[in-house]
Order: sequence, then C-alpha cells, then structure tokens
Amino acid sequence: MDFEPNETQTLIQRTARDYAERVIKPQAAALDRDETFPFEILKGLADLGLMGVNIPASLGGAEAGVVSYSLAMSEIARACASTAVTMAVTNMVAEVIARFGTTEQRETYVPRLTSGEYAAGAFALSEPEAGSDPGSMRTTAERTSDGWILRGQKQWITSGAHAGVLVVWARTGGTGTKGISCFLVEAGTPGMKAGKHEDKLGLRASNTVPLTFDDCKVPHSALFGGENEGFKIAMMALDGGRIGIASQAIGIATAALEEATEYARQRKQFGKSIGEFQAIQWMIADSKTELDASRMLALRAASLKESGKPFSSEAAMAKLYASEAANRICNRVVQIHGGYGYVRDFPAERHLRDVRVTTIYEGTSEIQRTVIARSALK
Ligand code: CAA
Repeated sequence: MDFEPNETQTLIQRTARDYAERVIKPQAAALDRDETFPFEILKGLADLGLMGVNIPASLGGAEAGVVSYSLAMSEIARACASTAVTMAVTNMVAEVIARFGTTEQRETYVPRLTSGEYAAGAFALSEPEAGSDPGSMRTTAERTSDGWILRGQKQWITSGAHAGVLVVWARTGGTGTKGISCFLVEAGTPGMKAGKHEDKLGLRASNTVPLTFDDCKVPHSALFGGENEGFKIAMMALDGGRIGIASQAIGIATAALEEATEYARQRKQFGKSIGEFQAIQWMIADSKTELDASRMLALRAASLKESGKPFSSEAAMAKLYASEAANRICNRVVQIHGGYGYVRDFPAERHLRDVRVTTIYEGTSEIQRTVIARSALK
C-alpha cells in the first residue's frame, strides 16, 4: 500500500493547484456573486488536460487516470466549487462517451469536450418526477424511419444551457429500469430547449436548467450504448461521478478548514488567539481527521476504478462520507469565524452554501446508503 502519489499524479495535482490559485481563486467570489458562467476558466482547464483527465491521449485526454482526476478535482474545488462541478460533469460525459460510444461517436464528441471546443458536456438523467428513482422517467424516444423523436422534460441539468453535447436518457420501451436508452444530442438541436437558470443556494456560477424535448429529432446514429441498455450505463457513469463529487466536497472543505485555521491564529479574544481555546482546537482537530478520512475513501475508490476492480460500493461510501463530513466541516468553519462567517467579506459562507448540494446531487446520501447496503447484503 502506497499513500504517495506517483509522478503523473503529482504533476496533475500541481498543475491543477497552480491554475486554481493563480487564475480561479481570485475570481471565485465575483463569479458566485454575479452568477457568471466561467467560459474562459473552463477553456483554460481544457488547455491543461483537465477536461479529460482519465481520457486516452488519442481522444485529446490527459490519460492520467482516476487518482489524478480525484486530486485535480479537489484542487479546482478548493478554489471554486462552481467551476469544479462543471469540470466534474464534463469529465463524466467525456468518459461515458469514450467507454460506451461507437468509434464515430467517440472520435466526434470526446475531442471536442477535452479540447474545450465545447465549453462543457451535460448529463440529462433527472426529471421533475424522477430524481432518486430515474427508472421512473417519462421522457420517451420514438423510433421513426429517419431517426428518433424525443419528448419530455429533464430537470436540474448541470451546464444544460451551455453544453456542446448532452447525454440524454429516454424510454424506448418496457417499464422501470428496462427499456431506457441514451442518446447524444448536440446543442441547438431543434425541439430541445433550456428553461430558466435555477436560482440556487450555492454553486451560483454553475449553470443548472430544466430541459424540454418537444418533438426533438435526432438521427439513428445518436443512439448510444445499445437500445434499452441505457439504465446500466447511467449507473456505471454515476459510480465514477460519485468519486468526482466526493473529491469536490474534499476540495471545498479543505479551503474552508485552511481559512478557519488561519483565522483561529489571527483572531484574538480574551487577550489571546481563539486557536488557543480548546473549543476551537477540537473543531479543527475533528475537521482535519474527517477530511483525511474522506481523502482516503475517495482515493481508494479512485484507485480501484483505475485498476479495473469493482468500485461501486466504495465510490458510494466515499461520496456519502466526504459530502457529509464536508458539510459538518463548513458549518464548523462558519462557527469559528463567528459573525464574520455569516457575511460575504469572508469566503466561509460561500463554502457552506456550495457544499450543501454535495449530499444531494449524483445520488443523495440516502441513495448512497442504499447502494452500500445492497452490496453488503447481496
Ligand atoms: N453498475 C452496473 N449496473 C447496475 C448498477 C451499477 N452501479 N446499479 C444497478 N445496475 C443494474 C442492476 O444490476 C439491474 O440490472 P438487471 O436489470 O440486469 O437486473 C439494473 O441496473 C436495475 O438496477 P436496480 O434494480 O438496482 O435499480 P433501482 O431502480 O432499484 O435503482 C439506485 C438503483 C441505485 C437507487 C439508482 O436508481 C440510483 O442510483 N439512483 C440515484 C440517481 C442519481 O444518482 N441521480 C443523479 C443525477 S445526475 C447528477 O446529479 C449530475 C449533476 O448534475 C452533478
């Protein structure tokens, strides 16, 4: 067992950290305040290989593996959680196309995602009535002589208004999880329309929209991964995606804890720095321990995925623990800052707003527990 990152992993982590500190962090508060989608920053990520960290070089990726991806994701989230989620979903979409797409689909779309020609990719699974239970989706795809016609609605689609390509799940037959297929839909396809950008608690610089498919015609070649095989593809993609969100939560909590530690050194009350009080020390000690445990879980899941071993339950454990720990940590960080934690002069309140969704998206904590328990009991 080796806890040290190798040369490639160290290089990717340093590259991500340098870009995050130099370019992203100074803009993060303003991006959040103005709800600005970070187009230029995303292009910079693509130029550094960070939009396809685990994608083969032949498709424009960094081919640096899943551990590198997890480390890079945490570094970007440490600077800006909104940028990080956009990067996470784009990497997930690039990976799913690289793994399940036809040669033509792979060679057409993956390089456009990894190069930044497309600002982002989108993953359109959830619906207004189908969140934790995607098997109950109502969006349909009807086969016609010259292609498929998509009809229905999707909800909470990250980067839905700005993605160059969207992976869209729709029912092609059957009931429940059987009879679901997925399709690659290009931005601007007639009949697909993005609705109003959601007014969110956090991640305000990421784009989250509902999508409507109103007789949206796509060619037969848009079918992706085999007819009626889509549900399993979504599950496998989400297994990997959960490592990304665990890593994002770790990045947000890392930034928050670093800031709280510095604040505890500087801030004086009762004639000494508040870091000298045991109440504050214990909050810092608990947070540091939980953060380290989160890192171990995320890196273990990443390492299993990288070596081609089963990792579904381990990814769910990493996502469950890291997201819940990061929420506890960001809450303590606001407490350590006192009144200053509650105002925008310090980033503590942004971290708390940003981290909240990590126990919800890419599967709620309750769904992660379902995945873990089913694996334990089967
Ligand atoms: N890998 C491969 N196959 C899998 C799988 C996995 N991880 N999980 C399930 N399957 C297969 C099953 O083996 C089963 O196959 P058979 O039909 O051959 O038996 C089939 O898929 C159906 O599985 P289940 O019966 O277990 O399905 P279920 O309806 O009970 O659901 C669930 C299981 C884990 C609860 C699943 O519904 C789930 O993960 N829900 C959460 C959805 C989610 O995470 N949404 C996030 C949206 S995307 C997002 O948030 C992105 C963003 O913007 C940041």
